[in-house]
Amino acid sequence: MNFIETLREKAIKVQKTIVLPEGTEPRTLKATQIILEKKIAKPILIGNPEKINAAAKELGVKIDGARIVDPVNSEYYEDFVNTFYEMRKAKGVDMEKARKMMADEVYFATMMVKKDVADGLVSGAIHSTGDTIRPALQIIKTKPGIKSVSSAFVMIVPNCELGSNGMFLFGDCAVNPNPTSAELAESAILTAQTAKSFCDMDPKVALLSFSTYGSAKHEFVDKVVEAVKIVHETAPDLAADGEIQADAAMVASVGKTKCPSSPIAGQANVMIFPDLQSGNIGYKLVQRLAKAEAVGPFLQGIAKPVNDLSRGCSVDDIVNVVAATAIQAAN
Ligand code: ACO
Repeated sequence: MNFIETLREKAIKVQKTIVLPEGTEPRTLKATQIILEKKIAKPILIGNPEKINAAAKELGVKIDGARIVDPVNSEYYEDFVNTFYEMRKAKGVDMEKARKMMADEVYFATMMVKKDVADGLVSGAIHSTGDTIRPALQIIKTKPGIKSVSSAFVMIVPNCELGSNGMFLFGDCAVNPNPTSAELAESAILTAQTAKSFCDMDPKVALLSFSTYGSAKHEFVDKVVEAVKIVHETAPDLAADGEIQADAAMVASVGKTKCPSSPIAGQANVMIFPDLQSGNIGYKLVQRLAKAEAVGPFLQGIAKPVNDLSRGCSVDDIVNVVAATAIQAAN
C-alpha cells in the first residue's frame, strides 16, 4: 500500500468529523462525495443549505449524509459570538465585530473545532493560506509548550532513490515568512516528529542553506547555524545537522566531499528551509519539475488539526488532506 492509500485506510478506521468551510466550492463538493462514499470522515459543510445543495445538484454530486451548518442560523452562533468576543476583546474586538467574524465561514468553522463540534478543519481551495491559518492562530492557538506554528509537506518524488526512497518532509513552506533561529529550530523538531508519526520515517534532518559548514559567510547563514545549535541543545538525540546545502544533504557523494563528518549528509529525508521564500519556491519546483506529489501542507504545533489547501488543489488533494486531518485528530 502506498502512502496515500495508507493515509485513507487509517482515516477510515478513526472516523473523525472534519469541517469544510468552503461549502459551495466545486472541488470541495466533489471531494465530499468521495469522502462519504469511501467513509474517510464525517464531513460538515459550512454555508447556506440551499446554495450548497443547488451547487451539488449542478455538479451532479451526491452529498446526502454530509451535515450542513449555516453559521448565523445555527444553534451555535450566539455561543460562538460570545466566546470569540471574550477571547479577543483585549485585542479590540467588540460585539459587533465578533458577530461579523463568526458569520465568516472559516472563523465559524475554526470555532467549531475549538468547541469540539468538529475534530478538524480543512480549507484553502478558495481562501488564501493567511485567511485559512489566521483564525486558527487566533482561536485554537499553539499546543502547550509550542511557541510557533509551522507546516510540513510530504513530498513523494517518483523514481527517486534519495531521501526515504523518494519520500521527504519539507518544512516550512507555508507559514512563517522569516522565522528566527529559535522558530526555525522549533519547526525542524516538529517536522521531524511529523515525519515519525505520520510517515513512519526515521528522520534525518537537514537545516538548509546556501553554505555548508562555513563555506560562505553571511547573516542568513548565521541564522541557520544558530538554529542548528538550538536543535542540538533541545533535541540532542535527533539526527539533525547544518548549515548544509541541499545537494550535500541528499546526495552521498556530494556530502562526502563537502562535510564528511556530518551524521546526516547524503541521507537527509527532512529538509528545513531557512525562510518562506526558499521553502515555498522549493516545494513548488520539486512538485512541478520532478512531478512529485506534494501532500499538505500540514500545520504543526497547533492545538487541534487545521490544514490548508493550495488554491491549485485537486479533488484528490482535498480528500487526502481530509484523511490526514482525521489522523492528526486521532493522535
Ligand atoms: N505561530 C503561532 N502564532 C502565530 C504565528 C505562528 N507561526 N504567526 C502569527 N501568530 C499569531 C500572532 O501571535 C497573533 O496572535 P494574537 O492576535 O492572538 O496576538 C495572530 O497569530 C495573528 O498574527 P499576525 O502577525 O497579526 O497575523 P498575520 O496577519 O501576520 O498572519 C500568518 C499570520 C497568516 C501565518 C502570516 O504570517 C502569513 O500570511 N504567512 C504566509 C502565508 C502564505 O502566504 N504562505 C504561502 C502560500 S502557502 C502554499 O503555497 C501552499
